[in-house]
Amino acid sequence: MYSEKVMDHFQNPRNVGEIENASGVGTVGNAKCGDIMRIFLDIDDDGIVRDAKFKTFGCGAAVATSSMATELVKGKTIQEALQVTNKAVMEALDGLPPVKVHCSLLAEEAIHAALWDYAEKHHIVIEGLKKPVDDISESEPQEEY
Ligand code: FES
Repeated sequence: MYSEKVMDHFQNPRNVGEIENASGVGTVGNAKCGDIMRIFLDIDDDGIVRDAKFKTFGCGAAVATSSMATELVKGKTIQEALQVTNKAVMEALDGLPPVKVHCSLLAEEAIHAALWDYAEKHHIVIEGLKKPVDDISESEPQEEY
């Protein structure tokens, strides 16, 4: 049911932990399944994501997507990090079962929330970044669990 890559990132998650004095921190939950993801980004003066870490209280797919999402944003510019969508994360994991697609949305939203936090702290506007939601289940009310 899960790809080898999903199983690998679930069993050996990359980038678990926190970044002290992170440039941006984003926390997003899904009230329907009760899962919560927090992503920490370290962004340097050139706007490059130097490091990314996560803490996820959630299902295996949420752990695997956080792990892959943090891997994908490392070394990227802010604009490139913004393109790390849930689709990109799922592709990098060789797919997720349909009922687990929403878990990858947590990863996308948590990255956006961390970028938003960074932008607020630095009083800048990141083009194309919308204000993130705290609870993604509100934006996808049609989904069944
Ligand atoms: Fe909630 Fe996976 S079941 S994030």
